[in-house]
Amino acid sequence: MTHAEAAARAAFLSAELHRHNRLYYIEARSEISDQQFDALLRELQDIEAKFPDLLTPDSPTQRVGGAPLEGFTQITHSVRMMSLDNTYSEEELAAFFARLQKGLGREKIDCVIEPKVDGVAITIRYENGVLKHGATRGDGQTGDDVTNNLKTIKRLPLRLPKDGPQTFEVRGEVFMPKAGFAKLNEERDEAGEPRFANPRNSTAGTLKLLDPKTVAKRPLDIVFYGLVEASDVQSQTEVYALLDAAGLRKADLIWQADSAEGLLSAIRELDEKRKSLPYETDGAVIKVNSFADQRELGATSKAPRWAIAYKYQPEQAETKLLAIDIQVGRTGALTPVARLEPVLISGSTVSNATLHNYEEIERKDIRVGDIVVIEKAGEIIPAVVTVKKEHRSGDEAVVTAPTHCPVCGTGVHRDEEQVVIRCPNPHCPEVVKRRIEHFVSRAAMDISGLGESVIAQLVEIKLVRDVADLYALNELLLARLERVGTKSIDNYLKAIETSKQQDPWRLVFGLGILHVGAGGARKLLEHFGSIDAIAAASIEDLTQCPDIGAIVAPSIHVWFREEHNVALLDRLRSAGLNFAQRTVTAASDKLNGTTWVITGTLSEDRETIADTIRANGGKVSGSVSGKTTYLLAGEDAGSKLDKATKLGVKIVTEAEFRAML
Ligand code: IVH
Repeated sequence: MTHAEAAARAAFLSAELHRHNRLYYIEARSEISDQQFDALLRELQDIEAKFPDLLTPDSPTQRVGGAPLEGFTQITHSVRMMSLDNTYSEEELAAFFARLQKGLGREKIDCVIEPKVDGVAITIRYENGVLKHGATRGDGQTGDDVTNNLKTIKRLPLRLPKDGPQTFEVRGEVFMPKAGFAKLNEERDEAGEPRFANPRNSTAGTLKLLDPKTVAKRPLDIVFYGLVEASDVQSQTEVYALLDAAGLRKADLIWQADSAEGLLSAIRELDEKRKSLPYETDGAVIKVNSFADQRELGATSKAPRWAIAYKYQPEQAETKLLAIDIQVGRTGALTPVARLEPVLISGSTVSNATLHNYEEIERKDIRVGDIVVIEKAGEIIPAVVTVKKEHRSGDEAVVTAPTHCPVCGTGVHRDEEQVVIRCPNPHCPEVVKRRIEHFVSRAAMDISGLGESVIAQLVEIKLVRDVADLYALNELLLARLERVGTKSIDNYLKAIETSKQQDPWRLVFGLGILHVGAGGARKLLEHFGSIDAIAAASIEDLTQCPDIGAIVAPSIHVWFREEHNVALLDRLRSAGLNFAQRTVTAASDKLNGTTWVITGTLSEDRETIADTIRANGGKVSGSVSGKTTYLLAGEDAGSKLDKATKLGVKIVTEAEFRAML
């Protein structure tokens, strides 16, 4: 291919990819499959690799994440990024409207009301139709240049349609959708990493990452609410029209009102509806519509006078703190959990709340016996907010961070930031129980029947000290379990025996290596082919594997070099477990070019069915979209079924699916 041919082909591919992205994210339809899209993207990547001068900053290949940065450079905002004053009651909001009336000297003032999206403020500049840069608010004058991270947001156009304005700066909020946030936390649990407390924290944390490839895997999204420096736009409603024309997403719900009563009814309605929005909201933003009016009202040193935030009360309740228990995790992390007198809040009964860590208990001076205020808002896990110190009788007990594991008595370790406290004893019975539970779980080795209580007994009577001991169990040993019949024993032994044939990625995931989730384990086996090859790999080799980055690789490397782990692997191998990827010659190509989403209860677990789909040439995705070809729906299918029906995705039963093969 000559340079000229390559340039022409790259321009064509780039335009096509931009067009398909726009179709998908803005018009919610698609003309090509995921595979076809990926094939075009790969072709463009190959051309850019051969002819680096053809790589433009708005290339669709930039969405998968470019090279990691050393640090963020600073961008000075063309117009200051201000914050908003807050109001917390309808009276305060009415007072705000009265100030507008006084300031403008008239009765009716046209205002717009939008949801206040709980994410991270961002400003983005387009020049000549191309996304030039994006930055965080920082101190309001200058912020971090997070352009490469923002480019991974698929909904964000890197190039604007030709028929609208080409140069302007837009302001908006980056957020993590509620569903994506929940899934991310599940994955972090699986990988033994700490959960994010709420979607805003996870968004802020993600934007601060220096490796855009990691960012590309996080489900960030964006909405826009403002425009600066656009000459022919005269009102907020005209801003909405411009956003629409540019394919930039605006708020899903917007009201217009010109009286105090109108504002109040809008904020009440929003409160009803905001639960069904895809993002977390903590209030409403009320803005004067006309830019001329805005200029007349002006701003204070920190916030405009023409806009205000109305904050909804997160639901709170008071209850008694009965105890602070210590939860021992699979990685040995000791986490304090508040046990509460049950109380109804946001429609559910809450009897446990998170205390995050001991530093927080100390900072808030939380004592056992205290009356505490707990709060629950949206996706956020119930948390203890404050203590009602005025209700203290003097009998409340101060709780200090454990110096020793409450279960095995080993002295604890603290991480560098001194926040996570861990029991370092690999034989701690509680840690062992959590590890075995993880190993046998459906997502890992899928040894069905072995529930928490059986595992607890196995560990307590010292039949099982690590996962390899499971494979030494026999009828005689299991007969020592209490309240377990011969039929169950038979089933356990069969399930354990069958698990020896599981795919080796399940074994790698089941071992519970810090930072290695199910997805990472799968990638490791795809890349290296066997557990022995992973064990032998250097840190550098490991980072060559997709999805294995600078944090995960050393963690894997260390794990495979610890003596007790080497011994454990030897025992698992002797027990006959499967250490090498069977070279799955595709069972068929019957599902080539199709993308599947699996939902509901089916005859086998999802991973097994997903493997079958992949072995027959299909792709499996976690969520229903315009690119989904089939939804495989089992019993009790829920929201995915609704979404598929809405999008007109073909729904197949398990019987139909089997028939297709
Ligand atoms: S308008 C002069 N509209 O809330 C500032 N802000 O507390 C004009 N926010 O910094 C901001 N949703 O990050 C506006 N619909 C919305 C918003 C919104 C969320 C954030 C924004 C702002 C912060 C102020």
